[in-house]
Amino acid sequence: MNDAPIGIFDSGVGGLTVARAVSAQLPRESILYIGDTARSPYGPKPIADVRRYSLEILDTLVDQGVKMLVIACNTASAAMLRDARERYDVPVVEVIGPAVRTAMSTTRNGRVGVIGTAGTIGSGAYQDMLGVNAQLTVFAQACPRFVEFVEAGVTDSAEVLAVAEEYLAPLRHAGVDTLVLGCTHYPFLEGAISYVMGPDVSLVSSDTETAKDVYRQLISRDLLAGADAAPRHVYEATGASADEFLDLAHRLMGREVQQVRLVQTGA
Ligand code: SIN
Repeated sequence: MNDAPIGIFDSGVGGLTVARAVSAQLPRESILYIGDTARSPYGPKPIADVRRYSLEILDTLVDQGVKMLVIACNTASAAMLRDARERYDVPVVEVIGPAVRTAMSTTRNGRVGVIGTAGTIGSGAYQDMLGVNAQLTVFAQACPRFVEFVEAGVTDSAEVLAVAEEYLAPLRHAGVDTLVLGCTHYPFLEGAISYVMGPDVSLVSSDTETAKDVYRQLISRDLLAGADAAPRHVYEATGASADEFLDLAHRLMGREVQQVRLVQTGA
Protein backbone atom coordinates (compact mmCIF):
# COMPACT_ATOMS: atom_id res chain seq x y z
CA MET A 1 0.00 0.00 0.00
CA ASN A 2 2.78 2.51 0.91
CA ASP A 3 4.21 2.41 -2.61
CA ALA A 4 0.81 3.04 -4.20
CA PRO A 5 0.49 6.46 -5.88
CA ILE A 6 -1.04 9.61 -4.43
CA GLY A 7 -4.10 10.48 -6.56
CA ILE A 8 -4.27 14.16 -7.46
CA PHE A 9 -7.19 15.70 -9.31
CA ASP A 10 -8.06 19.07 -10.87
CA SER A 11 -10.35 20.37 -13.57
CA GLY A 12 -7.31 21.02 -15.77
CA VAL A 13 -3.67 22.04 -15.45
CA GLY A 14 -3.94 24.05 -12.21
CA GLY A 15 -3.50 20.99 -10.01
CA LEU A 16 -0.09 20.43 -11.62
CA THR A 17 1.12 23.18 -9.26
CA VAL A 18 0.08 20.95 -6.34
CA ALA A 19 1.63 17.84 -7.97
CA ARG A 20 4.88 19.78 -8.45
CA ALA A 21 4.91 20.91 -4.80
CA VAL A 22 4.14 17.37 -3.58
CA SER A 23 6.94 15.84 -5.65
CA ALA A 24 9.39 18.56 -4.49
CA GLN A 25 8.64 17.78 -0.83
CA LEU A 26 8.16 14.01 -1.27
CA PRO A 27 10.39 12.88 -4.15
CA ARG A 28 9.94 9.16 -3.42
CA GLU A 29 6.17 9.28 -3.85
CA SER A 30 4.41 8.12 -7.00
CA ILE A 31 1.69 10.37 -8.38
CA LEU A 32 -1.36 9.62 -10.50
CA TYR A 33 -2.80 12.90 -11.79
CA ILE A 34 -6.12 13.41 -13.58
CA GLY A 35 -7.08 16.72 -15.21
CA ASP A 36 -10.78 16.76 -16.13
CA THR A 37 -10.07 18.82 -19.23
CA ALA A 38 -13.22 17.62 -21.00
CA ARG A 39 -15.33 19.57 -18.49
CA SER A 40 -12.94 22.37 -17.51
CA PRO A 41 -13.35 25.05 -16.26
CA TYR A 42 -15.37 24.12 -13.17
CA GLY A 43 -15.50 27.69 -11.81
CA PRO A 44 -18.59 28.91 -13.71
CA LYS A 45 -20.53 25.60 -13.45
CA PRO A 46 -23.40 24.84 -11.01
CA ILE A 47 -22.12 23.34 -7.77
CA ALA A 48 -24.19 20.13 -8.24
CA ASP A 49 -22.43 19.45 -11.58
CA VAL A 50 -18.99 20.13 -10.09
CA ARG A 51 -19.78 17.70 -7.26
CA ARG A 52 -20.87 14.96 -9.69
CA TYR A 53 -17.83 15.40 -11.97
CA SER A 54 -15.46 15.45 -9.01
CA LEU A 55 -16.83 12.29 -7.37
CA GLU A 56 -16.62 10.50 -10.69
CA ILE A 57 -12.93 11.40 -11.11
CA LEU A 58 -12.13 10.54 -7.49
CA ASP A 59 -13.86 7.13 -7.97
CA THR A 60 -11.59 6.55 -10.99
CA LEU A 61 -8.50 7.33 -8.91
CA VAL A 62 -9.61 5.03 -6.09
CA ASP A 63 -10.34 2.24 -8.62
CA GLN A 64 -6.72 2.60 -9.76
CA GLY A 65 -5.48 1.91 -6.22
CA VAL A 66 -4.28 5.28 -4.92
CA LYS A 67 -3.36 5.50 -1.21
CA MET A 68 -4.51 9.10 -0.77
CA LEU A 69 -6.73 11.56 -2.65
CA VAL A 70 -5.76 15.19 -3.16
CA ILE A 71 -8.51 17.48 -4.44
CA ALA A 72 -6.17 19.99 -6.09
CA CYS A 73 -9.01 22.24 -7.21
CA ASN A 74 -10.58 24.89 -5.01
CA THR A 75 -13.91 24.86 -6.83
CA ALA A 76 -14.21 21.08 -6.35
CA SER A 77 -13.02 21.31 -2.73
CA ALA A 78 -15.69 23.92 -2.01
CA ALA A 79 -18.36 21.79 -3.72
CA MET A 80 -17.79 18.34 -2.26
CA LEU A 81 -15.24 18.00 0.48
CA ARG A 82 -17.58 16.48 3.06
CA ASP A 83 -18.99 13.97 0.54
CA ALA A 84 -15.47 12.85 -0.36
CA ARG A 85 -14.36 12.32 3.24
CA GLU A 86 -17.46 10.18 3.91
CA ARG A 87 -17.21 8.19 0.68
CA TYR A 88 -13.61 6.94 0.63
CA ASP A 89 -11.49 4.83 2.96
CA VAL A 90 -8.26 6.51 1.89
CA PRO A 91 -7.36 9.92 3.39
CA VAL A 92 -8.63 12.94 1.47
CA VAL A 93 -6.64 16.19 1.39
CA GLU A 94 -8.11 19.38 -0.05
CA VAL A 95 -6.77 22.82 -0.78
CA ILE A 96 -8.91 25.25 1.21
CA GLY A 97 -8.12 24.32 4.85
CA PRO A 98 -4.32 24.46 4.47
CA ALA A 99 -4.42 27.89 2.79
CA VAL A 100 -6.83 29.25 5.43
CA ARG A 101 -4.60 28.12 8.30
CA THR A 102 -1.55 29.75 6.72
CA ALA A 103 -3.40 33.00 5.99
CA MET A 104 -4.52 33.18 9.63
CA SER A 105 -0.99 32.86 10.91
CA THR A 106 0.48 35.20 8.26
CA THR A 107 -1.66 38.32 8.54
CA ARG A 108 -0.42 41.11 10.77
CA ASN A 109 -3.22 43.65 10.28
CA GLY A 110 -6.11 41.14 10.25
CA ARG A 111 -7.22 42.16 6.73
CA VAL A 112 -7.16 39.10 4.49
CA GLY A 113 -8.08 38.94 0.80
CA VAL A 114 -9.09 35.82 -1.06
CA ILE A 115 -9.38 35.40 -4.82
CA GLY A 116 -10.87 32.42 -6.66
CA THR A 117 -13.31 31.30 -9.32
CA ALA A 118 -16.93 32.41 -9.26
CA GLY A 119 -17.83 28.96 -7.87
CA THR A 120 -15.31 29.09 -5.02
CA ILE A 121 -16.06 32.66 -3.99
CA GLY A 122 -19.83 32.14 -4.41
CA SER A 123 -19.74 29.04 -2.17
CA GLY A 124 -18.49 31.17 0.74
CA ALA A 125 -16.13 28.34 1.78
CA TYR A 126 -13.12 30.61 2.37
CA GLN A 127 -15.19 33.37 3.94
CA ASP A 128 -16.76 30.87 6.39
CA MET A 129 -13.47 29.23 7.38
CA LEU A 130 -11.58 32.52 7.75
CA GLY A 131 -14.60 34.04 9.51
CA VAL A 132 -14.17 31.59 12.41
CA ASN A 133 -11.46 33.99 13.57
CA ALA A 134 -13.40 37.07 14.71
CA GLN A 135 -10.21 39.19 14.56
CA LEU A 136 -10.14 38.94 10.76
CA THR A 137 -11.87 41.02 8.13
CA VAL A 138 -12.16 39.08 4.89
CA PHE A 139 -12.40 40.58 1.40
CA ALA A 140 -13.32 38.12 -1.37
CA GLN A 141 -13.05 38.68 -5.10
CA ALA A 142 -13.91 36.35 -7.99
CA CYS A 143 -11.38 36.48 -10.84
CA PRO A 144 -13.03 34.33 -13.53
CA ARG A 145 -10.72 35.24 -16.42
CA PHE A 146 -7.57 34.08 -14.62
CA VAL A 147 -8.34 30.39 -15.26
CA GLU A 148 -9.02 31.12 -18.95
CA PHE A 149 -5.60 32.75 -19.26
CA VAL A 150 -3.79 29.84 -17.63
CA GLU A 151 -5.67 27.19 -19.62
CA ALA A 152 -4.61 29.11 -22.76
CA GLY A 153 -0.97 29.14 -21.57
CA VAL A 154 -0.96 32.95 -21.26
CA THR A 155 0.61 34.11 -18.00
CA ASP A 156 2.67 37.25 -18.69
CA SER A 157 0.84 39.32 -21.31
CA ALA A 158 -0.17 42.98 -20.99
CA GLU A 159 -3.79 41.79 -20.96
CA VAL A 160 -3.15 39.57 -17.92
CA LEU A 161 -1.68 42.55 -16.10
CA ALA A 162 -4.58 44.84 -17.06
CA VAL A 163 -7.17 42.27 -15.90
CA ALA A 164 -5.21 41.69 -12.68
CA GLU A 165 -5.19 45.46 -12.02
CA GLU A 166 -8.96 45.52 -12.43
CA TYR A 167 -9.77 42.46 -10.30
CA LEU A 168 -7.32 43.29 -7.52
CA ALA A 169 -8.03 47.04 -7.17
CA PRO A 170 -10.73 46.56 -4.47
CA LEU A 171 -8.37 44.37 -2.43
CA ARG A 172 -5.56 46.89 -2.65
CA HIS A 173 -7.91 49.65 -1.58
CA ALA A 174 -9.12 47.49 1.32
CA GLY A 175 -5.53 47.38 2.64
CA VAL A 176 -5.20 43.59 2.85
CA ASP A 177 -1.73 42.46 3.95
CA THR A 178 -2.33 38.80 3.03
CA LEU A 179 -3.88 37.45 -0.15
CA VAL A 180 -4.97 33.83 -0.56
CA LEU A 181 -4.66 32.50 -4.10
CA GLY A 182 -7.80 30.38 -3.82
CA CYS A 183 -7.40 28.57 -7.11
CA THR A 184 -4.64 26.15 -8.06
CA HIS A 185 -4.29 27.83 -11.46
CA TYR A 186 -3.27 31.14 -9.88
CA PRO A 187 0.33 30.29 -8.90
CA PHE A 188 1.05 30.46 -12.64
CA LEU A 189 0.00 34.14 -12.45
CA GLU A 190 1.90 34.90 -9.26
CA GLY A 191 4.23 37.35 -11.05
CA ALA A 192 1.36 39.58 -12.18
CA ILE A 193 -0.59 39.22 -8.93
CA SER A 194 2.43 40.05 -6.79
CA TYR A 195 3.36 43.00 -9.04
CA VAL A 196 -0.13 44.48 -8.71
CA MET A 197 -0.50 43.87 -4.95
CA GLY A 198 3.01 45.13 -4.15
CA PRO A 199 5.85 43.68 -2.08
CA ASP A 200 4.20 44.25 1.31
CA VAL A 201 1.32 41.86 0.65
CA SER A 202 2.03 38.18 1.44
CA LEU A 203 0.62 35.73 -1.08
CA VAL A 204 -0.63 32.41 0.31
CA SER A 205 -0.67 29.75 -2.34
CA SER A 206 -2.71 26.57 -2.00
CA ASP A 207 -0.11 24.44 -3.82
CA THR A 208 2.70 24.57 -1.27
CA GLU A 209 0.34 24.65 1.72
CA THR A 210 -1.50 21.56 0.44
CA ALA A 211 1.77 19.70 -0.16
CA LYS A 212 2.68 20.29 3.50
CA ASP A 213 -0.67 18.77 4.51
CA VAL A 214 0.00 15.74 2.28
CA TYR A 215 3.38 15.33 3.99
CA ARG A 216 1.82 15.57 7.46
CA GLN A 217 -0.95 13.08 6.66
CA LEU A 218 1.40 10.51 5.10
CA ILE A 219 3.60 10.58 8.19
CA SER A 220 0.77 10.50 10.72
CA ARG A 221 -0.90 7.55 8.94
CA ASP A 222 2.36 5.72 8.33
CA LEU A 223 1.83 5.84 4.57
CA LEU A 224 5.17 7.18 3.33
CA ALA A 225 6.67 5.32 0.34
CA GLY A 226 9.48 2.91 1.21
CA ALA A 227 13.15 3.91 1.06
CA ASP A 228 13.65 1.90 -2.18
CA ALA A 229 10.46 3.07 -3.87
CA ALA A 230 10.85 3.86 -7.57
CA PRO A 231 8.48 6.82 -8.07
CA ARG A 232 6.27 6.90 -11.17
CA HIS A 233 4.41 10.01 -12.24
CA VAL A 234 1.43 9.31 -14.50
CA TYR A 235 -0.70 12.09 -15.98
CA GLU A 236 -4.18 11.54 -17.38
CA ALA A 237 -6.64 13.94 -19.01
CA THR A 238 -10.27 13.52 -19.98
CA GLY A 239 -10.29 15.96 -22.92
CA ALA A 240 -10.07 15.29 -26.65
CA SER A 241 -6.31 15.68 -26.99
CA ALA A 242 -3.45 14.36 -24.89
CA ASP A 243 -1.01 16.44 -26.97
CA GLU A 244 -2.83 19.66 -26.14
CA PHE A 245 -2.56 18.94 -22.41
CA LEU A 246 1.10 17.99 -22.78
CA ASP A 247 1.94 21.16 -24.77
CA LEU A 248 0.23 23.31 -22.17
CA ALA A 249 2.00 21.53 -19.30
CA HIS A 250 5.35 22.10 -21.06
CA ARG A 251 4.61 25.76 -21.63
CA LEU A 252 3.68 26.29 -17.98
CA MET A 253 6.07 23.96 -16.15
CA GLY A 254 8.89 22.90 -18.45
CA ARG A 255 9.48 19.20 -19.12
CA GLU A 256 8.18 17.82 -15.81
CA VAL A 257 5.19 16.14 -17.48
CA GLN A 258 6.51 13.69 -20.07
CA GLN A 259 3.47 11.82 -21.25
CA VAL A 260 -0.30 12.17 -20.96
CA ARG A 261 -2.86 9.46 -21.54
CA LEU A 262 -6.53 10.05 -22.20
CA VAL A 263 -9.30 8.62 -20.03
CA GLN A 264 -13.07 8.60 -20.57
CA THR A 265 -15.66 10.29 -18.37
CA GLY A 266 -19.44 10.32 -18.29
CA ALA A 267 -21.31 13.26 -19.84
C1 SIN B 1 -11.66 25.91 -12.48
O1 SIN B 1 -11.77 24.80 -13.00
O2 SIN B 1 -12.48 26.81 -12.81
C2 SIN B 1 -10.60 26.29 -11.51
C3 SIN B 1 -10.07 25.27 -10.62
C4 SIN B 1 -9.90 25.74 -9.19
O3 SIN B 1 -10.83 26.31 -8.62
O4 SIN B 1 -8.82 25.53 -8.57
